[in-house]
Amino acid sequence: MNVTFRQLKVFEAVARNLSYTQAARELYLTQPAVSMQIKQLEEHTGLPLLEQIGKKVFLTEAGKEMYHYARSIARELEDAGEVMERLKGLESGKLEVTVATTANAFATRMLAMFKQLHEGVTISLDVTNRERLLQQLSDNEKDIAIMGKPPENDELTTEAFADNPLVVVASPGHPLAALKKVSLKKLQNETFVVREQGSGTRTAMQRFFDEHNLSITSSMEMNENEAIKQSVQAGMGLGVVSVHTIELELETNRLVILNVEDFPIMRHWYLVHRKDKRLSTVAQAFREFVLSKATEFVKVDYI
Ligand code: PGA
Repeated sequence: MNVTFRQLKVFEAVARNLSYTQAARELYLTQPAVSMQIKQLEEHTGLPLLEQIGKKVFLTEAGKEMYHYARSIARELEDAGEVMERLKGLESGKLEVTVATTANAFATRMLAMFKQLHEGVTISLDVTNRERLLQQLSDNEKDIAIMGKPPENDELTTEAFADNPLVVVASPGHPLAALKKVSLKKLQNETFVVREQGSGTRTAMQRFFDEHNLSITSSMEMNENEAIKQSVQAGMGLGVVSVHTIELELETNRLVILNVEDFPIMRHWYLVHRKDKRLSTVAQAFREFVLSKATEFVKVDYI
């Protein structure tokens, strides 16, 4: 059958509306142009597809069959168009991600894999603490954020995708490292190296100690997990960090996790974006990638 897409498209519109006038309006064509396309289609098929009785248009038996195929071809074409758009977006789109300092331990690996899958995508990554990150979301500066639990806020869409256990770490030579179990009371006499104000880890740690009526002494405040780990290794005190930041140190035995009563403090990682932001094709693809592949990047067995 030698029919064209154009003829099918016009026929689909007339058959759906059962009106030449309505189809012409919908397709921005004149009514004679619509009639001409239908006439040609009928010539190609060798059967009448529509009949007009009075002012009403009806589908013939053959017309009903043809309508079924015209609809499914139109749907397929629409799907193909959407897929092409998606591919265009994924070949050349830009992705603006911001991640909490602590999440950077795995977020960089995630982004590297995502980039391998979509080579044409340009990625911009900002690593910052929780407070600044919430500001970036509120200023609509970024597509997506990866962070600890955001505050209740009607403007944000939040999706948890992995656990984030916070643990107490020490250098292997620390006296508490020899104990099988460390009571919370014992921490009272210890010194801690802590993250800066505004850090999610710091806030969670503070809340935990407050809830347990424990006031701890901090020797130093640092705005990087790396610096905390170095100081703890150097024996400057204990640290509370996410297990996701210490994989290498545990493997090489430069740090140990203390088995402290009521630890770990269980936090979670969230994907966050503004509710009113229409995610681009790339941002949407990254969101799906993180939600489906997180466990390949975020270590869950930690003790
Ligand atoms: P951070 O951690 O701000 O301490 O890097 C992320 C979070 O837990 O929100």
